[in-house]
Formats: sequence, structure tokens, C-alpha cells
Amino acid sequence: MRARIAAAVAVLLGVGGCTTDKAAPANVAPSFAPGAEGAGDPYFPAYGNGGYDVAGYDLELKYDPGPGRLEGTATITATATQDLSSFHLDLVKLTVSSVTVGGRPATSRADGNELIVTPAAGIVRGAAFTAVIAYAGVPGPLENEALGVGGWLRTDDGGFALGQPESASTWFPVNDHPSDKATFSLAMTVPDGVEAISNGVPGAREQAGGWTTWRWTESKPMASYLATVVIGQYRVRSSTHAGKPMVIAIPESLPADGPAARSLARTGEVADYLETLFGPYPFDAYGGVVLDDGRVGYALETQSRPVYGNVFFSSREDLTVVAHELAHQWYGDSVALERWQDIWLNEGFATYAEWLWEEHQGERTTQEAFDAAYRGFDWRTPTGDPGHEQLFGDAVYQRGAMTVHALRKAVGDQVFFGLLKSWPADHRDGNATTEDFVAAAERAAGKDLTDLFRNWLEDSTQPPAPG
Ligand code: TRP
Ligand code: ZN
Repeated sequence: MRARIAAAVAVLLGVGGCTTDKAAPANVAPSFAPGAEGAGDPYFPAYGNGGYDVAGYDLELKYDPGPGRLEGTATITATATQDLSSFHLDLVKLTVSSVTVGGRPATSRADGNELIVTPAAGIVRGAAFTAVIAYAGVPGPLENEALGVGGWLRTDDGGFALGQPESASTWFPVNDHPSDKATFSLAMTVPDGVEAISNGVPGAREQAGGWTTWRWTESKPMASYLATVVIGQYRVRSSTHAGKPMVIAIPESLPADGPAARSLARTGEVADYLETLFGPYPFDAYGGVVLDDGRVGYALETQSRPVYGNVFFSSREDLTVVAHELAHQWYGDSVALERWQDIWLNEGFATYAEWLWEEHQGERTTQEAFDAAYRGFDWRTPTGDPGHEQLFGDAVYQRGAMTVHALRKAVGDQVFFGLLKSWPADHRDGNATTEDFVAAAERAAGKDLTDLFRNWLEDSTQPPAPG
């Protein structure tokens, strides 16, 4: 039901940057060097950049749906993790008109999907800096589309930015890798009568000269692919849930009380159920957006406000997809990946949340869901290292969920459900790896789980059914 990805293009660029938290001792002369052009992810070496750590993106943008033109300013606050003579950002198809760093004019040049910024003076390791980048152009999707919809897609009435593992670089300059989480705020100016929905808490809306500015703030660190904006003709319903803002947007092309609207209206109820499993809801806002667009056969767990392709709701309500995307708010968003290889930590748990939701609804039990997936499964792809071509394949979603179930059977319900809560609590607003999870599971269980995780995450043969 979810993403099935055919192939990906390996881009072999970039090396890991030197990263350390320690500031250079004052008596050592800085040795300035360019930041790396990739974050060093083994699956996607070119994604992201090295040499700095972003704290926040503050975007002031304007989008004109007629010409499909985006223009504005990105203010990026960051800290150097090495002595930097220059640094890279990821930016696709958009043209930069000016850059300042620390208030002083900097030079920049575009090289493919990289923007290389050279500040007037080097930035020493440990120093905080602010880069202000003015840019404009007609945004579009990423060329490397083998992994499905990625980046900016234009529509008759606007456009939207959506995609995993990459999409942000098609609409703002960014360190486009989940290992560098940052806060995010957006002021998006669109013509009066057009809606612009994004992540987080809505701010005051302003109207001037035929344009309306929509403001959104995500104050919890967010992986860049979880940033979204959806522009067009939407019914935007604002309410509160559990004392936090809830914003649900349904395209005007869909009925106001159809299956999509009715499914998303149950967002609060599903989130409350997941809280009983995973602990407190991790963000300051709730909601969701539906896209009525044939190109979007997916949903994505965009932070605090998932985006759902209407394919899920074309004939009836679908709460399992809502449970899936909301489960990601804990597993994937609040606790984000450090490297793409560990994607089962996101998709395995989100799929298991579907199984738990189904059981909670009095449908099939988790054991029945496991049995159905286990029978006749193709075990060749290891869940813990699926390869970039199978990043969203069955080995990640189905075998990932089976791995979670096998763990539950191995450690017992008390330890398992304790771990389901302690993992998001211990890594809240952070990043984690499979090794971190295995260690947490072993600590919680008080026993060695090497064999279990080898069978389920590494082997290319059928793991024994849990007893
Ligand atoms: N992570 C999404 C989910 O499982 C699926 C997905 C993978 C996706 N690649 C995508 C969604 C690209 C949108 C675009 O919920
Ligand atoms: Zn998912």
C-alpha cells in the first residue's frame, strides 16, 4: 500500500566532514578548509554537507502560482564544526542573488545542486554564524526521481514540496540530510484567496496589496525532508486538540465531508491512542493535508502535519494510513535517522503501529498480521541494510514490522511496551541508529539479543518464527 521504489541512482560525491563539538583551543591557529560537499551518508554520499550544524531555517518566501515563481530569503543560523573557509548548501534549480554571512557580503557560486558560499572571513570551529541568502526561480522536482515524488511539484492552482529522502533543496538552501535537524519557520506570501499550509504552529495571517502571508513555526528540530508547504485551493480547518493547534487542509476539489476529510478528522483520536503506546505527543501542533494529485501515491510524515495522497481515501476512510503517519511523529520525526540505511527504525515501527491500531479497532490481531506477512515472504533483502534501491521496499516495511513483533515475543509485553515509550523519550528531538536501538532493547530486556537481531536485520534467509 505504501511506497514501492524501483531504483535509485547512486551519486558518488563527497566525503564525511570533520565534525567535533569541541571548540579549537585559543592558542591553536585556525586552519581554514572548505566544508565537505556531502554529509557522508553511505547510501547517499552527496546528500547534505559537512563542516557546520544548522540550528534553524527562517524562510520569507513569495510564490506566484501563475508563472510558478518562488522568491525570497532564507536566514540560516548554524555553528561551524571545523575551521571553515567555505561551505556548501544544497539548492536545486533556484538562483541566488545575494549572500551575507555574519552581516558581511559573501560570494557564492552554484555547482549543480550545490551552492558554495565563501564568507568574507573564515569561520572558526565552534563559532555560531548567520547566513542570509536571497534567491528566486521556478522550482521543480529533483532530477533524481528514481525514489518517487521528490521536491517541488507545480499544480493548476499552486504547488507543493514533498519527498523522501530528499525534497527541501528544491525550495530552500539547506543541509539536506536528516542528521542535521533544525527548527523551521516559514512566512509564505501567496495571492489573496490561495492557501499555504506548512509544518507546525500557525501564526498571524496578513493581507496587503492583493497578497496574503501565511506563517508557520516548527520549533522542535526537524529533519529537512519533513519540511513541506502546500499551496492551492484548500479548505483549512483550524481547531485545537489536547490544548495544541490542529490544522487540517482538504482540497476544494474533494467533498468537505468525504472519506479524506472524515479520515483526517480523526487525527486527534488516533494520536491519543498512539500516546498510550509511545508516550507524550512530541510536537506543538497536530493536523494533516490531503493532496488530490495523481502523482502522489504516498503519504509522508511531514512533521506535525502529515501529507496524504488522496489515493488512500478514494473509496473509503482509511485510518491505518493515519496511524502510520502519526506513528512516525515519534518514530522517524522526533527520533530521526542518522543515516538512511536505518530506515526500518521509521517504517518498521510505523507499520507495526498500523497493526496495533487494527487490533485496537477489533480487526485482525498483531499476531495475525505477522502471520500474514511471514507466509511466503521473500527474505533475500536484509532489513538492516536494504540498499538504497530497496529503501522503501517490503524488507523495510513488512519485515521491519515483523522484526518489531519478533522482538516483542522475545522480550515479553512488559519490556516491549516499556521500550516503545522509553525509546522516543530517550532520543526525543534527536537522531539515532540501529546500534542505539539494539543497545536500548538489550538494556531494557536485560539480555543479549544478538541472535534475534542478526536473524531479523541481517540474514538473507527466513528467520525462525517467534514462539
Ligand atoms: N515515508 C513514507 C511513508 O511510509 C513513504 C514515502 C517514501 C514517500 N518515499 C516517499 C512519500 C516520497 C512521499 C514521497 O509514510
Ligand atoms: Zn512510513
